[in-house]
Amino acid sequence: MCGIFGYVGKNNSAPTIVLDGLKRLEYRGYDSWGVAVVPEGKKESVIVVKKKTGKIGDASVSELPKGTLAFGHTRWATHGGVTDINAHPHLDCTKTIAVIHNGIVENHEELRATLIKKGHTFVSETDTEVIVHLVEEYLKHTKPAPRDAEPAFSKAVQQAFNDLDGLNAIILINTTSHEMVAARNGSPLVVGFGDGENFLASDPAALLPHTKQVHYLEDDEMAIVRDGSIHIFNARTGERVRPRKQLLTWSEKDAEKGKFPYFMLKEMHEQPGLLSEIASESPEQAKALAREIRESDRVYAIGAGTSGNAARAATYLFSDIANYLLNWGIASEFNHRLPIISESSMLIALSQSGETMDLLEVVKKAKDRGIKILSIVNVVGSSLWRMADLTMPIGAGPEKGVASTKAFTSKIAHLLLIAYAMKGDVASGQKLIIRAARSAQKVINSSAVDQIKNLAKALKDVRHMYVIGKGISFPVALECALKIKEISYIHAEGIAAGELKHGPLALVTKGTQCIVIAPNDETYHDVMGSAMELKARGAHVIGLSFKNDEAFDDFIPVMDAGEATIIPNVIVAQLLAYYLTIERGFDPDMPRNLAKSVTVK
Ligand code: G6P
Repeated sequence: MCGIFGYVGKNNSAPTIVLDGLKRLEYRGYDSWGVAVVPEGKKESVIVVKKKTGKIGDASVSELPKGTLAFGHTRWATHGGVTDINAHPHLDCTKTIAVIHNGIVENHEELRATLIKKGHTFVSETDTEVIVHLVEEYLKHTKPAPRDAEPAFSKAVQQAFNDLDGLNAIILINTTSHEMVAARNGSPLVVGFGDGENFLASDPAALLPHTKQVHYLEDDEMAIVRDGSIHIFNARTGERVRPRKQLLTWSEKDAEKGKFPYFMLKEMHEQPGLLSEIASESPEQAKALAREIRESDRVYAIGAGTSGNAARAATYLFSDIANYLLNWGIASEFNHRLPIISESSMLIALSQSGETMDLLEVVKKAKDRGIKILSIVNVVGSSLWRMADLTMPIGAGPEKGVASTKAFTSKIAHLLLIAYAMKGDVASGQKLIIRAARSAQKVINSSAVDQIKNLAKALKDVRHMYVIGKGISFPVALECALKIKEISYIHAEGIAAGELKHGPLALVTKGTQCIVIAPNDETYHDVMGSAMELKARGAHVIGLSFKNDEAFDDFIPVMDAGEATIIPNVIVAQLLAYYLTIERGFDPDMPRNLAKSVTVK
């Protein structure tokens, strides 16, 4: 969580460059934002900060002084309420050092108490503020360094960083050395190499307008970033680290909204094209991964949120298509099961960002035990990507809407291909994905959208919705309910059709809104039985199906695509959630209390 962007160079509009970077990162946290600049040409002056609660929107930093060194932050609050004062950057007592931070300083209370005893004055309630006072304290005890000695500022940051407990990414600047000093443990940070200017960011997508050459900081790595040099070393040992330069493959345009009012709408529209691309890729990787899976003792698919729903869907795909029992789990729950999993097993870690902390924690532990890790991840170069033994890029391009859409359907397409490869018939998998792409295109471009819009108008004031599915459509029901609740704030629950009679049916009365997912598969008759039971109790039944039925009060047609029908069904759910959100007057890209990348536990 939290977006971080820093600039050092020759351009004296550094605050504006930083603000633009933050605007590209706002999906990481949008409680508040802030920018700090070292004013140009006044060596001994103080750092100037502008920070505010609320979204960046069309904020400007024109009132900030010019400067060639600046950094900024968009916050997702952990410690301390959402106030202007608690927003980052934070300053030390002398206002000559500033910090931005992502993570949680677990020992902040004791550090704060010690620093207060030493005379430091705290102004915020955040854990972050201890970092800057700690650096200030270490600097007090550092004698002025001779010309070639170890730079005092980075040394003090290193000492402070080594005092912090927890998973943290920090960047500090000061008024005397023209540099950013960054350190990472757990939370992501990426260094961008420019020409006479260099960058730091929490997410590589923010660097695209400036550079495609990056180095992902590993845990315990620090970077001293100046306009003409980048020096990377290990924070614990001080040993120098050679930059591992990687090239970003996304384009700047991929990360922009274009003609769409929201990223989510743009990302939903990209899905048919992405599916066609996946279907036309060489199937060799899917075949190789199928072999690896067959050779493993047991295989577990895990993920969080939408990626967790993809993991659950994968179990159905693998059993239906490949006759293979794939285990699955929610990342945050999986820790407890790791000790009983054999070393010759494989973990398939699913993630859009590759930075979800709950997932990374399990993967780290599994890796330590020698369990093979296959990551199916969208952000190439992310922590998960770097940790894995085997990787499959999702290839969905930058996803910025907080509610994951295209990363989900692309993940499903890859999983479906692997399942078909396990069956020894990858070509049929490719054909099905093409069918799913056509079906998705129909949903997105046809009168189905008008129907969905009308439905959203009619449903906008309901308080509860239930989504019913069976077999592979059960994870669809869960994903549909997740999309509706996370962005429209309507309470929605995904229910396995067979479970209705075991409790949820008690909630159904006249007018209860129920979505029934009824594809052309072996679940059809059972699920339609459930639809009739709902209707008999007065429910308003909305059917997502290949054909209309008297049980449906409203009907959204979804063209059959065999096992891949999960894909267009989920796209209908995404569109419904989106238009409900628009009807209710909320921002689908930035739902309250959530963030795109959950990098804290
Ligand atoms: C957050 C996002 C969700 C996402 C989940 C897992 O909660 O808001 O949209 O599904 O994290 O993220 P990942 O990047 O691991 O897929």
